[in-house]
Amino acid sequence: MADTTQETRPRWWARPDLDYVGTDLHLGGVNLAQAAREAGGPAYFYSGERVLANLRRLQAALGTTGLETRIRYAMKANRYGPLLTYMKASGLCGIDACSPNELRHAVRCGFRPGDVSYTATSVSEADLQVLARNPDTWINCDSLSTIRRLARVSPGRTIGLRVNPALGVGYGENQLLRYSGERTSKFGIYREHYDEALALAKEVGLKVEGIHFHVGCGYLDAQLPAWREVLQSCRWFLDRLENPRIVNLGGGLGLPHVATDTPLDLERWAGVIREAFGGRGVQIWVEPGDFIVKDAGVLVLQVNTVERKRSTTFLGVDGGFNLAMEPVFYKLPCEPVPARLSTNAATAWQAENLRTYTIAGNINEALDIWAENAALPEMVEGDHLVLLNAGGYAAGMSSDHCMRAQATEHLLLP
Ligand SMILES: Cc1ncc(COP(=O)(O)O)c(C=O)c1O
Repeated sequence: MADTTQETRPRWWARPDLDYVGTDLHLGGVNLAQAAREAGGPAYFYSGERVLANLRRLQAALGTTGLETRIRYAMKANRYGPLLTYMKASGLCGIDACSPNELRHAVRCGFRPGDVSYTATSVSEADLQVLARNPDTWINCDSLSTIRRLARVSPGRTIGLRVNPALGVGYGENQLLRYSGERTSKFGIYREHYDEALALAKEVGLKVEGIHFHVGCGYLDAQLPAWREVLQSCRWFLDRLENPRIVNLGGGLGLPHVATDTPLDLERWAGVIREAFGGRGVQIWVEPGDFIVKDAGVLVLQVNTVERKRSTTFLGVDGGFNLAMEPVFYKLPCEPVPARLSTNAATAWQAENLRTYTIAGNINEALDIWAENAALPEMVEGDHLVLLNAGGYAAGMSSDHCMRAQATEHLLLP
């Protein structure tokens, strides 16, 4: 949960397609207060244009590496069918899936099995049967057990190995978002087991032609030196392959969550890739989730309670942490803003006009607090509150806790 008392740039998140038009917040040309009223309850809105813009700027940056590159969108971030279909129609990306149902859903949304890579953990026999029926899907095996069992059902297959360089990067210092590092994690094959994994693959007749690593989520510009170290250290794994063709850098590219976050400089990011893998004749695959969808989506809730308890003014809203788990699970900051202002944005957001609110959801759990001490223009009961950066890992991770109704999802098209 965010403490935004120290806010220095109250509308740091505004951009041409996400800002107030007069008194009303618009996303992708749509008036969010009006759209929320029509939706009739908690609602996620995703801007298709912003998703494509994110894909395009990533594609442009990858183009500067001089390497052959592919984007495989990690659909675990947001699997809303109309959005996936829209992404497929753009031709800008394939998919990274992590379960048989994700693979099936991607195909239903128009992706060919050959456009899908599969990176999973704790893979079952039933999962392997599905993969065997989809020989064109690229698999990144993250354990010796998977290699051994995959060979039985899909002999002779060409695969990638998910490796674990024992280094991680994520959002700031947040250890919860690191998938690799000092603490032994369940993901990937460590250096000390790698030769054994390669020997096993050879013995059972699988051809290893790629490496994969995903070492954390949410890294920004400040983490680029650490990410460079990860890439440099992963060359060790690549150098041991007889036929190295593919390096999958995973996802993890982050977006600013608070005013003080500096966005990832994609040119510098691409430079790190060029430095590590340029001139080696390999294809670079990336599988971002959040970077593509997070800032394209919002969750709109209605304020039903404004009440002071002791020295705290609570805004109670009609949706809780079950609709977007990250602030509670991963301690990621949450940025709440009013959908409609009582006066124009420049005036409403002036420091002297802001109030301090603690925003509480409707779930009976003490941890169900969206943000503490958020500095916002004044809000009254009946207003709509917009939670920014809700395009990734919100609807997909939501639950029916307390049997609170699920929110509806809406794709905004130009
Ligand atoms: C293997 C793998 N690839 C890609 C991603 C996407 O990560 P992000 O949304 O941070 O880009 C994840 C997220 O957990 C992952 O586990």
